[in-house]
Amino acid sequence: MENKKIREVIKVFKAVNTSDGAGVSLKRSIGMPEISYVDPFLMLDEFGSDIPGQYIAGFPSHPHRGFETVTYMLNGSVRHEDSVGNVGELHSGGVQWMTAGRGVIHSEMPMQDEGLMRGFQLWVNLPKAEKMREPRYQNIEPNDVPEVKLSNGGLIRVVAGEVENTKGPVEGIVTEPVYLDVQLPPQAEYIHYTPAAHNVCSYPFEGSADFGSGQIERSHAVAFSWGHFVHVKAGKNGVRYLLIAAHPIGEPVFRGGPFVMNTRDEIIQAYRDYDDGKMG
Ligand code: CO
Repeated sequence: MENKKIREVIKVFKAVNTSDGAGVSLKRSIGMPEISYVDPFLMLDEFGSDIPGQYIAGFPSHPHRGFETVTYMLNGSVRHEDSVGNVGELHSGGVQWMTAGRGVIHSEMPMQDEGLMRGFQLWVNLPKAEKMREPRYQNIEPNDVPEVKLSNGGLIRVVAGEVENTKGPVEGIVTEPVYLDVQLPPQAEYIHYTPAAHNVCSYPFEGSADFGSGQIERSHAVAFSWGHFVHVKAGKNGVRYLLIAAHPIGEPVFRGGPFVMNTRDEIIQAYRDYDDGKMG
């Protein structure tokens, strides 16, 4: 491992209970004031409930412009529909990587009225040159997410990026993201080699792990310093976590509700285009 630098934990933030859409309970970590932007990650929401009243109202019709929304379902099913007729269903283990570009108006509604609904939504920024591109959907079926079995008994589902010569199905994304769902048994260790130019975050959502700064419990976002690899050691009950990484963009970020642009004027224009029916 000569000349390779370990990535150190530089920030840990406990996700905050909040709600969004039409009253969906969720835990938000990235996107809160304390960890508002880990370039290019704008927001990370964990949703998980078996109480229908906490998810049933879903996310009715709303717009997006200037970034990408990534929905990864662990349990449950969601129907996605946009205003120009694209329809898709997301099931347990499936992913939708939506590049909103210049504008999408969509809804994301639960297809079940009982049982467990659990997953994540990640917002990934786009550089100026891509913010007004044509929208694009990548809908990935659960069976199309490859799984890598580790010699330590662990398992990695590869949504995007590459692990041990296994490539994830999401492709052609400008920030070259890595998106992994990793399970490690008790006390198991693993080293993630990550592209040196990328920013890297982790989010344990079952059990706990030591990422180099002591045990971190579930539902905490962890941001890492520059380096070549992340070293993880699972806690006494094992761990399951997301490992996300992407190339930073390094441009000014202006947010306005469901729009993320480079300037205030572009946000005002986005609201105007939405009101004028020029989006989606
Ligand atoms: Co949305």
